[in-house]
Amino acid sequence: MRAYFFGDIHGNSYALEACLKHLEGLRVDEAYCLGDLAGWLPFGDRILTRMRSLELPTVAGNHDLLIAGLFPDHPHQVDRMQATAYNMGLLSTMPSALEYLSNLPLLIERQDFVVVHHSPFHLPPPGETPDIECFNYLDEVALTGCLKAWRDTPLRLIFSGHDHIPAVYEISDGAESPRFEDVNIHTPPPDEAHTISIDPRCRYWVKAGSVGGPYRDSVPLANSVLYDSDSQTITLYRIPFPTDQLHKDMSSHPFCRNLPTLHRYMELLTQ
Ligand SMILES: [Fe+2]
Repeated sequence: MRAYFFGDIHGNSYALEACLKHLEGLRVDEAYCLGDLAGWLPFGDRILTRMRSLELPTVAGNHDLLIAGLFPDHPHQVDRMQATAYNMGLLSTMPSALEYLSNLPLLIERQDFVVVHHSPFHLPPPGETPDIECFNYLDEVALTGCLKAWRDTPLRLIFSGHDHIPAVYEISDGAESPRFEDVNIHTPPPDEAHTISIDPRCRYWVKAGSVGGPYRDSVPLANSVLYDSDSQTITLYRIPFPTDQLHKDMSSHPFCRNLPTLHRYMELLTQ
């Protein structure tokens, strides 16, 4: 069985189309979207239309839920709040788009893996609405705090997105009182695919990185992941897309003029 994972599209239709073309060539059995369809770029409508037509299993990202109005953002996230407000206005003109986002599941479980936008260990109790604290980044302290729960969870593979940094975290079943130092972190090179062989004595938390950016590892390529259960491998991909076209759309859009986050994003696209 081959399963493909991609997410954090953030309105970048050029990167999404490159990723979907890549997916087509891989002949997979299943594909999952890791959430954050919209947010950041002022083109969330393009992604909603395309992704809804594909009907792929999709988990909710923090941007999706912020845009749907489920909870407020951290007050210091000024750029993100503006991008949320813009996309909320944009998507409120599309029939049932906000309803679609607010009804996305937080978690999808399969026989040998779990799919989540951020972390299966930071979700609200079943049936309760999440808040922005459920999406705080997985820094050393946060990861250390869930190491024991991760080591004890029956599912050996987690696929997530959220922080826009592709990496695979590996922990051995034998780590008695797991510490941060016990986590082996695999990071892909900037310009080519990277394959990791799964050790049956370990668990893996696969962060897919972002399809659409902003690219927090400063590599302006779309990121995605393939899990192959037959060969027991995980492959992280870097996929080129027409960055010049995205840059043109952004530089001609008034919304992108005043947000430092989007200025840095545009600068990276020209490199
Ligand atoms: Fe994201």
